[in-house]
Amino acid sequence: MGKIRRIGVLTSGGDAPGMNAAIRAVTRTAIYNQLEVFGIRHGYRGLIERNFKQLKAHSVSDILQRGGTILKTARCEEFKTPEGRKTAYDNLKDFGIDGVVVIGGDGTFTGARIFNEEYDIPFIGIPGTIDNDIYGTDYTIGYDTALNTVVEAVDKIRDTASAHNRLFFIEVMGADAGFIALYSGIANGAEAILIPEIPDQVKNLKKTLEEGFKRKKSSNIIIVAEGEDEGGAFEIAEKVKSDFENYSIRVTVLGHIQRGGSPTASDRVNASRLGYAAVEALLDGQTSVMVGLQHNEIVLVPFRKAIKQHKDVDRNLLEIADILSL
Ligand code: F6P
Repeated sequence: MGKIRRIGVLTSGGDAPGMNAAIRAVTRTAIYNQLEVFGIRHGYRGLIERNFKQLKAHSVSDILQRGGTILKTARCEEFKTPEGRKTAYDNLKDFGIDGVVVIGGDGTFTGARIFNEEYDIPFIGIPGTIDNDIYGTDYTIGYDTALNTVVEAVDKIRDTASAHNRLFFIEVMGADAGFIALYSGIANGAEAILIPEIPDQVKNLKKTLEEGFKRKKSSNIIIVAEGEDEGGAFEIAEKVKSDFENYSIRVTVLGHIQRGGSPTASDRVNASRLGYAAVEALLDGQTSVMVGLQHNEIVLVPFRKAIKQHKDVDRNLLEIADILSL
């Protein structure tokens, strides 16, 4: 691999609060090291459509605190084809780009891994997804902000649930992972938490609710992960409704509110560290790896591993949640 002089940076897949902090860190670390930086807009689609724009230090001013991504994002079908990747490679060569930092989740890293098997322009990944479901890193950009958004929203729902003695089913995001559900469930003192990692929870849920009502619990918050195998919040509510006819049931799907907003301090700091580390990795001659955080230390994890393996939730936390919501 030759010397790195010019790099690209893009965001891909679902946006996550803190992506802008990472773009800023990549840009300024690169400029500090006398590299030129090109922002690639709309994720991999921008690679194919030559949607490149040079970024200077001032181009990333005043974005650290903003949600979304100044580079825009997309999920791109064409990059999944050999022809699409060939066009992307030709465009990168044409612009003299020697390395690319991609910020995103599983799908983003899968595209980067395949590209790096075919072409010699190094790609480095930064984990950016509210789902926190990437193997090899304890943390993904945006997760902390999304979690805090959920906690704030559920606190508000708790007030009205308690005022009306209601049973609330609240659906949270997380794709097929239960991190947001599990952690918000604990932070909000939910009476039950349903996550995709644990099958057949509805039976237990009915038992938990019955016992709670016997103990004169007047309102309940049930957090349902959107990827829950027995259905989303509406389906789960439907399944238990006939057993609790005396109770007033409501369902709330929090939806995309979880993806927006100003990043928390933790997301800003970690995104800055990961952005810096990604440029360092390129300068060190790394390729096809993700920069991640394990035990609060920066680590490099091959895309191959980050994609293939499944990151599990800490199942002990569910037991703790059960005990604490007595
Ligand atoms: O991966 C992030 C995420 O917000 C998931 O939690 C959710 O399942 C999905 O993206 C929603 O995607 P879209 O914005 O395309 O509806």
